Amino acid sequence: MPTLGVNIDHIATIRQARRGSDPDPIAAAVIAELAGADGITIHLREDRRHIQERDVRLLRQTIKTRLNLEMAATPEMVAIALDVKPDYITLVPERREEITTEGGLNVKAQGDRLSKFVNQLQGAGIPVSLFVDPETEQIQASAKTGAKFIELHTGKYACSPNEDELQLQLDKLVKGGALALKSGLRLNSGHGLTYWNARPVGRIKGMEELNIGHSIISRAVLVGLERAVREMKALIN
Ligand code: PXP
Repeated sequence: MPTLGVNIDHIATIRQARRGSDPDPIAAAVIAELAGADGITIHLREDRRHIQERDVRLLRQTIKTRLNLEMAATPEMVAIALDVKPDYITLVPERREEITTEGGLNVKAQGDRLSKFVNQLQGAGIPVSLFVDPETEQIQASAKTGAKFIELHTGKYACSPNEDELQLQLDKLVKGGALALKSGLRLNSGHGLTYWNARPVGRIKGMEELNIGHSIISRAVLVGLERAVREMKALIN
């Protein structure tokens, strides 16, 4: 059974809409942990559009489970990571103009550059995971970097327009997972997973963790809205 890493970036997205202090990702992390989250995942983006450095540092001090820091492989981010020491790091590609992380890392093309970052981080005792599409060449190249984990990008699976495509994409994830294990890599998955599509991914052999954000935060907003409205109504009456 895989563990659940709850990505709380979008709590910070709502906060940043007003540049204020609410809702606070630190409070969200406490609630997620009380509800059974096995880890807290955050992405510190170069443009700081949601999570801020303050959040990373406070979460490091406050969470009781595991802190998974997603970040681009850049000297700026590595310096922050070496200082904060999250429990593990997921290296992701990052483009300023993207709405969310759109594809996996091109480890095949950037193996040497990524290996340097992997060595630096793992040398400091922080295990590294590489976020990759479920493609043979990318998985083989990931193993060569020395990274301990890969996170299979489930975006294409999640966005499948019909059942045939969904099955095809699931088969790719299953094959990718098997290759990762054979290559000595440990296995996580994430991106676009929902209450409807997460279970088959969680059943893939060797799957250790699912990282899920948007779907959980979206549901939280809706299941919490009725109570929030009732409370305000009672207050102003
Ligand atoms: N895993 C990685 C590497 C990601 O970049 C993201 C999105 O930040 C997620 C998992 C979570 O994706 P979602 O918010 O669609 O659940």
